[in-house]
Amino acid sequence: MSSTSPKPFDKSDYVSNVWKEGIFGGKVLFCTGGSGSICSAQTKAIVYLGANAAIIGRNVEKTERMAAEIATARPGAKVIAIGGVDVRDANALKEAADRTVRELGSLDFTIAGAAGNFLSPMSQLSPNAFKSVIDIDVLGSYNTAKATLPYLMQSAEKYKHDGKGSARNGTGGRIIFVSATIHYTGLPLQTHVSAAKAAVDSLSHAIAIEYGPLGITSNVIAPGPISGTEGMDRLSKSDADSLAKSKKNIPLGRWGEKKEIADATVFLFSDAANYVNGQISVIDGASWRTSGGS
Ligand code: HXC
Repeated sequence: MSSTSPKPFDKSDYVSNVWKEGIFGGKVLFCTGGSGSICSAQTKAIVYLGANAAIIGRNVEKTERMAAEIATARPGAKVIAIGGVDVRDANALKEAADRTVRELGSLDFTIAGAAGNFLSPMSQLSPNAFKSVIDIDVLGSYNTAKATLPYLMQSAEKYKHDGKGSARNGTGGRIIFVSATIHYTGLPLQTHVSAAKAAVDSLSHAIAIEYGPLGITSNVIAPGPISGTEGMDRLSKSDADSLAKSKKNIPLGRWGEKKEIADATVFLFSDAANYVNGQISVIDGASWRTSGGS
């Protein structure tokens, strides 16, 4: 564990007042890419609302530091860091899912959020560079789903719908894939990511149909331009003029907040989304319709 003290949790940064505290009590979230900016915000919101969590990442130190930070979201929260795991490694993910259930007791929710990205013109993109992103995003999402679905099925059975419009003691057996909007129109310098995210969406839709009869729901969250994220900081146009122009093109006239992705996540894992399956929740202020997803 890192010796630096974790950043104190401020609820208002991560979750809206509309949700009831404790709604995820007794539940466990498994999140790949959990030390990244968007996935850590999603995890903080779910933990704040009662869940325990395992976050999975490649970098051991970064994953441990973030797990400690997420644990401050709720007194008594258990958040385990499973570092050194590359989502391209199916066995490592299976071991991570097994360890989560051993240490936390169950696995009720999955977020497949690990992603790889860099800007590159296709002319400079080697086959291996293209494959690296496809493997991290698509194979990694598949591996995450494959490793966790057996546990999600147990959870779905335990919390199955009671036929009266609500579930017993909340929900379980839900998976969310974190995608993007760039493939709706295509975006220069992002051929690899566009192809990968289109496949991630399709993977989720297929799981929704194949596993729906078992009580599993599978949905996608597609974030738009969210401030304070790696996607915005590292990948967006960085000069002030271009940024101002991009912002003006967003119908809501502002960048999104990580909290807005976290709120969508809470919704999809909650009783309020019992009948939501095979959907894409685009959280972008209608940005892609006017800016092509940039
Ligand atoms: C061109 C590049 C490159 C670049 C790497 N490559 N960076 N090619 N331009 N900037 C090439 C390498 O030369 C190599 O090809 C191949 O990609 C694999 O590189 P490695 O470094 O060996 O791969 P790996 O260690 O697996 O790294 C994966 C990575 C890396 C995707 C390349 O960037 C990474 O791990 N990133 C960290 C996670 C991340 O990017 N998260 C982004 C989250 S933001 P050759 O031919 O030389 O062997 C996000 C927002 C999406 O996802 C929203 C959409 C807008």
